[in-house]
Amino acid sequence: PFGVLSKLAQETPIRYDSSRGCWDVFRYEDVQRILKDPQAFSSVRSGAGGENLLFMDPPKHTQMRELVNKAFTPRAVQALALRIQAIADELLDAGSGEELDVVAGYATPLPVIVIAELLGAPAEDRADFKRWSDALVESAEDLTDEAFERINRKRAAVLEELMHYFRALLELRARQPKDDLISALLAARVEGERLTERELISFCILLLAAGNETTTNLITNAVRVLTEQPRLQEELTASPEGVAGFIEEVLRYYPPIVSVGRVAARDVPLGDHTIRAGQQVISWIGTANRDEAKFTEPDRFDLHRKPNVHMSFGFGIHFCLGAPLARLEGKIAVQTLLERYRELRLLPDQAIVPIPSTFVYGVKNYPVAGRRR
Ligand code: HEM
Repeated sequence: PFGVLSKLAQETPIRYDSSRGCWDVFRYEDVQRILKDPQAFSSVRSGAGGENLLFMDPPKHTQMRELVNKAFTPRAVQALALRIQAIADELLDAGSGEELDVVAGYATPLPVIVIAELLGAPAEDRADFKRWSDALVESAEDLTDEAFERINRKRAAVLEELMHYFRALLELRARQPKDDLISALLAARVEGERLTERELISFCILLLAAGNETTTNLITNAVRVLTEQPRLQEELTASPEGVAGFIEEVLRYYPPIVSVGRVAARDVPLGDHTIRAGQQVISWIGTANRDEAKFTEPDRFDLHRKPNVHMSFGFGIHFCLGAPLARLEGKIAVQTLLERYRELRLLPDQAIVPIPSTFVYGVKNYPVAGRRR
């Protein structure tokens, strides 16, 4: 898809698509301009959850972001490293043979278990978490009204279940705090203000929705690069300290989120165009990351690319809150895989199913084989 998009980016870097009723913006500079200016390009959209950080503008966003930042600190994330390692080990030990479906056996369960533990959910609830997060990111299998309605009904039921679950957990931790994210969120105060119960619950749900499928795709996309360019496996096995840089380049090259949406809050000039108040704007991270004006040889995967100023975690005030966690999980997942297997390759004659979406980039299955070390 990046080839097609790059061509569009070159021909029409900013265009209005009347069939979808929105603007597409492809170049790095323009995407950055949009994400940098929440006053002109708002994240508030009707229908979307009003208590959800992603869909808020300042000043509400500033206040809530400050509150959750207090709990979701880099230190809290770093403290998880040993647990993430243990979970990665456990998942790879569970598969006995030389074959592994990376998506089902590794990249999907890892982030779900990590989020559940981070929040402080008991281990026995993991299967529920998996089911809930799958349902939250599931997209309609076709474009019929019935398909959308079916998905929406299912999502509504899952959201209802999640509200109940988190409300109960919150009540438990309010009485008896533990060393977990929920307790930290309950305790967080900024200038005397704290999160309401509704805000706390929707934040927990946002973490599930924003953190799981994205990290799954980061891990799977990383393994795709390793099997497409097997020499990287040797290079990274010989120097594991290069894995952090590898993950950054995977993020740039195969970004788990390829586009983000905004709405023009007023008439705004952009390039030779004027975006009218109320119009939707899609900013394409996927093409910005491959913009020749910003990256030399953008279509080449360069393990040592420096600087690597990709926008895969967004830019500006909505910059991904979970970026440190996603980077850590990606790094540990790849290092652990390379410690266990050598000569990883994609199994031949398998139909690899892309995720049908213009928003996320990943595949639904990725069966590999390798020699166990
Ligand atoms: C925001 C990407 C993992 C939580 C964002 C945004 C992007 C993004 C592009 C900005 C959206 C916008 O500007 O509209 C990713 C990618 C991930 C990842 C590529 C994995 C590789 C995570 C994880 C968590 C998380 C693990 C939490 C556990 C959030 C939250 C926001 C966000 C809460 C909203 C921040 C705000 O609006 O201020 N993410 N994300 N993400 N992400 Fe992530």
